[in-house]
Amino acid sequence: MAKILVVDDDPNMRVSLCEALARCGYDVESAPDAVTALRQIETKDYRVVITDIRMPGRSGLELLDDVKASRPETSVILITAYGTVETAVEAIRKGADDYLLKPFGVDVLNDTIRRILNGGAPAEVGRASAPAQLQPRPADNGKQIITKNPKMLQILQMAERTANSSAPVLIQGESGTGKELMARFIHNHSGRSEGAFVAINCAALPENLLESELFGYEKGAFTGAVNRKIGKFELADGGTLLLDEVTEMDINLQAKLLRVLQEKEIDRVGGSAPVKVDTRVIATTNRVPEDAIREGKFRKDLFFRLNVIPLTLLPLRERPEDIPVLAEFFLKKFSVESARDVRAVSPATMYILKKCKWGGNVRELENVLERAVLLCHTDVLEPEDLFLSYSPEGEQSTERPENLPAGMTMEEMERRLILGTLEKTQNNRTRAAEMLGISIRTLRNKLNAYKIDEKGK
Ligand SMILES: Nc1ncnc2c1ncn2[C@@H]1O[C@H](COP(=O)(O)OP(=O)(O)OP(=O)(O)O)[C@@H](O)[C@H]1O
Ligand SMILES: [Mg+2]
Repeated sequence: MAKILVVDDDPNMRVSLCEALARCGYDVESAPDAVTALRQIETKDYRVVITDIRMPGRSGLELLDDVKASRPETSVILITAYGTVETAVEAIRKGADDYLLKPFGVDVLNDTIRRILNGGAPAEVGRASAPAQLQPRPADNGKQIITKNPKMLQILQMAERTANSSAPVLIQGESGTGKELMARFIHNHSGRSEGAFVAINCAALPENLLESELFGYEKGAFTGAVNRKIGKFELADGGTLLLDEVTEMDINLQAKLLRVLQEKEIDRVGGSAPVKVDTRVIATTNRVPEDAIREGKFRKDLFFRLNVIPLTLLPLRERPEDIPVLAEFFLKKFSVESARDVRAVSPATMYILKKCKWGGNVRELENVLERAVLLCHTDVLEPEDLFLSYSPEGEQSTERPENLPAGMTMEEMERRLILGTLEKTQNNRTRAAEMLGISIRTLRNKLNAYKIDEKGK
């Protein structure tokens, strides 16, 4: 029976974890802090240590270092409750075996432990191969995935856990939701990160051109084939091939793609023998694949073959909690890139950003922030820098600067924002102040200044 140590400063969490693990049949002990835990680890032989990251005194990350130094064979699972999984991902790079995002179910916990005890193969794809070696990966060169949304975090966790598998991935999501970013994340976190990441848009090329782009051709295969051409599948051998908008591929070519996925070999156009390739395929679509299947545009068997690891990204309007974190992230990114010292997004600006519909998703938010940082007059982003039109009914859309009513002052913008917020809160000033991110006193002063009366007129 595997011996497990649970480390958490929160007694409720500690007790419920211990009970759940005991019910799963493990021999479980606990410690309230990292120092006590280390003492126990040095004298007893635990197979797995499960520790919270945030604890007073030594943190779970420091405990991870201690365990790796004194008992490198012991597996460590971290528990994290925080917005971005970056700390946890960092921890995995430092040798943690896995992490769990709070709140998690007993099933997830049990699966994670079982997977570790079985040698680290990803549970989701049931791969029976060598243990996943969690080696340092190349930096994500500033391309982090920022999210606080629980569903998106789960998707990220699934992506991370299955990164090492070679199974195909199908990423669904509207335009601008981060599909390519996710594909790169998977590549960077896989054992293929040293190999190439090659992308091709299946909607951009006619069938025969796409075929030779994908599979290459032999010299003399057709008029104009003066030299042999290596296709994307071969270029991505040992790496990852991103097939963007896969549902738009010609149906005949889809059959060929299916064969490649099954046989793991390609036929160069005009070639005499198939060529073995070890290419991991990640496909994306911004359509609902089932619709494309119904219309007879997308082969069902190809869909099933690609959809081994399905990842569906949420549109930005379904994860409003991501708007502030993304806005801050892009603000920092663009103020560094443009060498401008824009420090913060004002509360009023943030309020407006949260009200936008973001039909273009994260890409649109990113573009708005990029423009705003360039046009910003001070070190704080104010509503006027956004070049958005505001209407309190939520009928708001992003507009190009030339569509803006020229000459709108900041005061006018602020006045409209306050009026709109009051209307929305049915003149409840406490709520309005809260929404605007200012004190009730500041709101009262502004109402006086703008001569807005009791009824919000
Ligand atoms: N969660 C995120 N955190 C940080 N940046 C993000 C996030 N999601 C998307 N982005 C950024 O938004 C932009 C659009 O993302 P991406 O190109 O991956 O979208 P896409 O889903 O592939 O869009 P399309 O369907 O139009 O090809 C990129 O610059 C990407 O870096
Ligand atoms: Mg894309």
